[in-house]
Amino acid sequence: MENQYIIKGGTPLRGEVTISGAKNAALGILAAAIMTDETVLIDNLPNVRDINVLLSAIESIGATVNRIGPHEVEINGSTITDVTVDDDFIRKIRASYYLLGALLGKYNKAKVALPGGCDIGSRPMDQHLKGFRALGATVNMGFGMIDTHADVLTGNHIFMDVVSVGATINIMLAACMAEGKTVIENAAKEPHIVDVANFLNSMGANIKGAGTDKIRIRGVEKLHASEYSIIPDQIEAGTFMVAAAATKGDVLIKNVIPKHLEAISGKLTEIGATVEEFDDAVRVHCTERLHHTQVKTSPYPGFPTDMQPQIATLLALSDGTSTVTESIFENRFKYVDELMRMGANIKVEGNVAIIEGVGGLTGASISAPDLRAGAALVVAGLVSEGYTTVDSIQYIERGYECFEDKMTALGAYMDKIPVDDDRAIQKFKLKVG
Ligand code: UD1
Repeated sequence: MENQYIIKGGTPLRGEVTISGAKNAALGILAAAIMTDETVLIDNLPNVRDINVLLSAIESIGATVNRIGPHEVEINGSTITDVTVDDDFIRKIRASYYLLGALLGKYNKAKVALPGGCDIGSRPMDQHLKGFRALGATVNMGFGMIDTHADVLTGNHIFMDVVSVGATINIMLAACMAEGKTVIENAAKEPHIVDVANFLNSMGANIKGAGTDKIRIRGVEKLHASEYSIIPDQIEAGTFMVAAAATKGDVLIKNVIPKHLEAISGKLTEIGATVEEFDDAVRVHCTERLHHTQVKTSPYPGFPTDMQPQIATLLALSDGTSTVTESIFENRFKYVDELMRMGANIKVEGNVAIIEGVGGLTGASISAPDLRAGAALVVAGLVSEGYTTVDSIQYIERGYECFEDKMTALGAYMDKIPVDDDRAIQKFKLKVG
């Protein structure tokens, strides 16, 4: 049965929230885990839909997946019998394409369904394939599949034409057991690139420079067992930071790496919120109406595109005229119409949203267009007058663990109920008054 969120807005968020492991790091790490025949133990795994789909894809090729607990999994790749990952998985989650790099790197062959277009814009894979070819692989496309194989993979000097998180990870995976040395220039520098590299190194790979734009990989013969804990999710943390500021709340966001949040903290401070940094936590509080600013998304350490809808929602409620420029994905303003239905004043011109701050929003029945925009609309619901329902929450559940529980623990009036269940809506309204 499909669910929706119901929210009664207007309550400042207060208290503490603990951030889960980083989904985007986990996707790379789980794929990497199949590259050894020994058992790998991974913890701080976020218990979200994307991760569970990737684990099913990993099981479907014959690897042994032992879910020890909601946040801990053991993977053994020695039982893999198949190097083909079919359409079902790639349609549900694009990042199953990391199995392409992992299988190619381990077995010199892989066949993975071609990911289709995505809600946030066209997402080509040319840089991934350029990398595989540079390592000596033949890549064929046909019948909706990417089919790649090599007699031997040999290290090479690869210059990325576009800064791509996915391509950087996929090439690292394919290159870590190639013969000789690989250099990836113009590599992405996101925290999850570093986390995947650290994990591969913990299995015996030799990768240096992850986190800079030049990654050097010396191929090793094989990888071995490892125990590894995934970094905290930068975007989940950022979303709670924005929610705290938007509701004029006071929230301690725990289990974070404050350095990874600097672009977000910087913007929040600039517009008038208070952000305090601790060793592994940040506290965001806010009492006054916030100010306008300009935001432009760019690869790390710039402002993350995955925080663009959330910051735009916050600016929709801030004083004056703000602009938000999306420079990574071309179709990432689909939530704007929903925000306008709640009373926001936003005009989109090309890749720029021009936002006239309004005094408040009003509750409405809205729909999550994608993962991060969905989270932003929940934040909008939390500050709106009256009731908001958000449907298509399966997008939000791809990347946010127990979103409604974490919000409720901070004092939000929010619940997950079946779509079209009027009785559940009435019950919620009676409960929250
Ligand atoms: C990853 C994140 C996603 C985030 C994005 C940008 C994961 C699982 N997903 O997505 O949440 O929004 O980084 O931070 O980690 N491009 C090409 N050719 C390619 C590959 C990419 O032109 O071969 C372009 C894309 O169209 C886009 C830009 O490069 O404009 C960045 O994309 P990329 O960094 O690859 O994003 P993903 O890895 O798909």
